[in-house]
Amino acid sequence: MASTLRFDGRVVLVTGAGGGLGRAYALAFAERGASVVVNDLGGDFTGVGKGSLAADKVVEEIRRKGGKAVANYDSVEEGEKIVKTALDAFGRIDIVINNAGILRDRSFSRISDEDWDIIQRVHLRGSFLVTRAAWDHMKKQNFGRIIMTSSASGIYGNFGQANYCAAKLGLLGLSNCLAVEGKKNNIHCNTIAPTAGSRMTQTILPEDLLEALKPDYVAPLVLWLCHESCEENGGLFEVGAGWIGKLRWERSLGALVRQRTQPMTPEAVKANWTKICDFDNATKPQSIKESIGSIVEALNKINSGGEVSANPTSRATSAATSEFAGAIGHKLPPFYSSYAELDTIMYALGVGASIKEPKDMKFIYEGSSDFSCLPTFGVILAQKSIMNGGLAEIPGLSINLAKILHGEQYLELYKPMPRTGKFRCETIVADILDKGSGLVILMDVYTYSGEELICYNQFSIFVVGSGGFSGKRTSDKAKVAVAIPDRPPDAVLTDTTSLNQAALYRLSGDWNPLHIDPNFASLAGFDKPILHGLCTFGFSARHVLQQFADNDVSRFKAIKVRFAKPVYPGQTLQTEMWKEGNRIHFQTKVQGTGDIVISNAYVDLVPASAISAKTPSEGAGLQSTLVFEEIGRRLQGIGQEVVKKVGAVFEWHITKGENTAAKWTIDLKTGSGKVYQGPAKGSADVTITLSDEDFMEVVLGKLDPQKAFFSGRLKARGNILLSQKLQMILKDYAKL
Ligand code: NAI
Repeated sequence: MASTLRFDGRVVLVTGAGGGLGRAYALAFAERGASVVVNDLGGDFTGVGKGSLAADKVVEEIRRKGGKAVANYDSVEEGEKIVKTALDAFGRIDIVINNAGILRDRSFSRISDEDWDIIQRVHLRGSFLVTRAAWDHMKKQNFGRIIMTSSASGIYGNFGQANYCAAKLGLLGLSNCLAVEGKKNNIHCNTIAPTAGSRMTQTILPEDLLEALKPDYVAPLVLWLCHESCEENGGLFEVGAGWIGKLRWERSLGALVRQRTQPMTPEAVKANWTKICDFDNATKPQSIKESIGSIVEALNKINSGGEVSANPTSRATSAATSEFAGAIGHKLPPFYSSYAELDTIMYALGVGASIKEPKDMKFIYEGSSDFSCLPTFGVILAQKSIMNGGLAEIPGLSINLAKILHGEQYLELYKPMPRTGKFRCETIVADILDKGSGLVILMDVYTYSGEELICYNQFSIFVVGSGGFSGKRTSDKAKVAVAIPDRPPDAVLTDTTSLNQAALYRLSGDWNPLHIDPNFASLAGFDKPILHGLCTFGFSARHVLQQFADNDVSRFKAIKVRFAKPVYPGQTLQTEMWKEGNRIHFQTKVQGTGDIVISNAYVDLVPASAISAKTPSEGAGLQSTLVFEEIGRRLQGIGQEVVKKVGAVFEWHITKGENTAAKWTIDLKTGSGKVYQGPAKGSADVTITLSDEDFMEVVLGKLDPQKAFFSGRLKARGNILLSQKLQMILKDYAKL
């Protein structure tokens, strides 16, 4: 038998507990060990009058049965006072049931200002005030359970109750927000829309129904939602007569009614109306992020001239082939994982980041001031979540794991991958396609840090030989590959993979022996172990980031690739790139054979202007900015002479707090030297990182650079000996 849900030691405040539903809650909580504050103003059901009798009677009833209760007769508009009663009597507050309510039913045109206001004040403002008074106590104790009382009238509308409907649905909005804000403090807020016989419903419901719909048939839901073991948060429930149902939002796939470079018209809305309102394949968005995600996706589709789909919010079963109806929409169990700097560095080395390239240091040396995780690391957790065994357990699909190929990959980041963290992946079978020679499973993986969606992956998994079931060939959920432009590439970067590349890459989590064991590789029909497709993917993405975004990970938005052919460790990869606005199309070849190994691929970048717009003050407000500018001015006359003496390029990373606040380059190697903001345009001989404050100390001769280096206040990379020449530059030419 399930154990009894008890509330010993918990303090519960029920507003409007002098009768009806509130009384039933108060009695039920007390019976299960809670200390209860029975609040009731004691007026009539229209909010007129007051008295202590109602609350006193319920307190007496609880005490008679051996329970603990105190009365409070304030209006819910005095939230602080009511919560104080709980604190004075019992020393804490754990649970708030916002239940008090009145009615002022009138048809809309007859609602007076007072009828409107009093309903908002008692229901919406009252619930706000009582909850706010309890909120900080709940936060401090890291526990709280809150109930808002809505109504079917608010959810669906009801004649003659405009004031009440508005307030009641307002409570749902309040609850939705508190569920989000309270979550991290274990404060859960849920909403109920009850139906019960009470004095409030006695004029509406027939007498026999009034009797049958006991408040006791609502109370158990309220108790469960308020129990410490209940994880529900942000839910909405209809409840009555012993039946309980949960409600949620549903959204049609919708239609894209605008095209790039063309105005949006009401006629286009009209023409698409059926589609806009068609709930087939509807999605069930659960958060504002999912809502905004669709809007952003629509924008991307418009900009790329495509059609809109429901991703990344697709949570629904597609109307695809009936054979796989059970599989489509299937969710794999959530996958929990974490990573540390070691993992991100190992990954970076696995996809070819190297000390040979100074600008790669930020990916492989955790001491770099701008240490960053490569964006494509976003596939790693998602892949682990798929390979966790769930693939073999999709209902209605028996997959021969030896027959699967990784066909395509899409990754979209909503923020740069953190350098460490704990994550949860949620994976869903988004769709199943029939490609004739095989079947394609589209797996959507959402990776969260807490409640924050960090990235979204779509894996296209090709199952050889399972096609031909007369299924559909395409899906509006698929992230499609895009053909490369018909012109010579704008840039080409190459990298030779090492013989150990696959052996190194597999340490990031893809342990398939195909990539290391010659016997296994020959069984699969290869001469020798092959490189992971996602390793080549990482190399290519790195090339794009380096070539078009100066390795700035915050500019990396999304990537789509199609895996065309295998690569063997030791081969040289050649990434050919075409810039089209913020989209970098690319394909990757094996140099020598000319084989295309990644085709029809692209990376979408965040425009540089969007990043700099976010940090308009780069360099501003820093004392060092003035010094650099001054050095630049002074160099004008004597540059050549200094270049002769120094012959080096210095890149500066000026930090403020934890972050790099500005980068400067002092080029004392070429021509007559120059000083400019930003990283070195060629390569720097030495990169120096120090805080704005320490920089000033060095300039003013108060801090010796050598000492600063040995004490760790100044970091130098590259030819560290060159930093000895710093004194000369700074002292002689920047005496401010
Ligand atoms: P009820 O009239 O029996 O109980 C409401 C209680 O709230 C009364 O005891 C009243 O004195 C108290 N109250 C009114 N204004 C107050 C104030 N300013 N401060 C403190 N206490 C105040 O009604 P019932 O049916 O038990 O309703 C409870 C809640 O459930 C209400 O919020 C109501 O809107 C909601 N509800 C009830 C439905 C039903 O079928 N009974 C349907 C949908 C919602």
